[in-house]
Amino acid sequence: MTLWGGRFGGEMSDITRRFTGDTSDRRLLPFDVEGSIAHVAMLGKTGIITAEDADILTGGLRDILDTLDEFEFQDTDEDVHTAVERRLGELVGDLAGKLHTGRSRNDQVALDLRLYLRTAAAERVAQLRSWVEALMKLAGATADVPIATYTHLQQAQATSLGNHLLAYAWMAVRDMGRFSDCALRMNESPLGAGASAGSTLPLDRDAVTTALEMDRPMPNTLDAVGSRDFVAEYVFCCAQAMVHLSRLAEELVIWSSKEFGWVSLGDEVSTGSSALPHKRNPDIAELIRGRAATVSGDVTAILSLQKALPLAYNRDLQEDKRIVFHADDTLASALEAIAALLSGIEFSPPGPGAETSALDIAEAMVERGVPFRQAHLLVGRLVKMLEDDDRSLQQATTADLAAVDDSLSPSDLELIDPTNSLSRPNASKSRGSQAVRAQIDALRDFLQE
Ligand code: ARG
Repeated sequence: MTLWGGRFGGEMSDITRRFTGDTSDRRLLPFDVEGSIAHVAMLGKTGIITAEDADILTGGLRDILDTLDEFEFQDTDEDVHTAVERRLGELVGDLAGKLHTGRSRNDQVALDLRLYLRTAAAERVAQLRSWVEALMKLAGATADVPIATYTHLQQAQATSLGNHLLAYAWMAVRDMGRFSDCALRMNESPLGAGASAGSTLPLDRDAVTTALEMDRPMPNTLDAVGSRDFVAEYVFCCAQAMVHLSRLAEELVIWSSKEFGWVSLGDEVSTGSSALPHKRNPDIAELIRGRAATVSGDVTAILSLQKALPLAYNRDLQEDKRIVFHADDTLASALEAIAALLSGIEFSPPGPGAETSALDIAEAMVERGVPFRQAHLLVGRLVKMLEDDDRSLQQATTADLAAVDDSLSPSDLELIDPTNSLSRPNASKSRGSQAVRAQIDALRDFLQE
């Protein structure tokens, strides 16, 4: 069924029906009905339809809402809005024809998608919150495990594994904030915008807005039906969160290699090879990395969809739903999968190399009054001298220090054990268990707000 036809002499062909119809929007069903209930209440209240008609329509819509699982879409329903009006007709007869009074599918779909994404954003925030909590727990358990930080994938300084993992918790905290922010901005009602320039009927846009717990009616009707920046913003939130997960996924792939040997992933979250009997593969991590690429593509798609559209509504906009649903579904499943992956993980990273103490030595010299640039040069010379001799910094002796320069002190040798460096004070809360606990407290405060 279509919601139009009067001005047509012939029937729409099957090709046209199949090509232009949408089934991806079926998940909007409860939100479409919720919006219609608010709309009908307003039509009744303003006297645009009678109170009795409004009651009957509301009764039919409530029936649909109460039996969502039994709702049967038909191949001939052009979209979700059509399906609801068709079903309402089956329930209340011709009166269903009054539902669309003062409304167009253009403002209707812009509303439905806002209501859907408002709920989805809350779900993603809740999932991210659990993810942050899982990372906090893991970080607490690995607060004393020394590892190297890497810059340029070369060992840089010593830190703890817990501190490394908490970096991802802070990223997820910002992802939470992004979803909450974008949900605030989308919380305004396009209803009343009609097809593009509203209606001559005495609609009460404020009443609908209040009933739907939105902040205000959108002031400009062309903007209301033609804009999709709220969708693009949501897709970006998904993409950025996916990219954060993807970076961790990449690290898990590297860490689980024989060469790194930092982690062992549990059997329940690993996959095998059909050819190589010895393999245990980190496929969850690889697919998160791969799917981050597809969600990045969704950002390009949703922006490209809008870029050359004249105002106001154009049918191109129907594609916004496939894009945002793909992005959101992908993130939701990736969050679930990465949490499972980390719940069975065992860490056994090698300690950081002695050279990760190089900066600490230079800074000890700074505290004795040596200019940093000079200290940097001298410690560099010491490292090179040892390297030329096939030795590591770990094997340095007081004689080696003296050979380089007398501003190096025998006490500097104590700094060379990188494990030690985790317990030394650090203004940036960047190393050992105290730093990890301070961050966990700060995260807990944040989550409580
Ligand atoms: N399914 C359509 C969409 O998602 C609903 C709006 C249709 N409007 C129209 N004028 N054909 O965009």
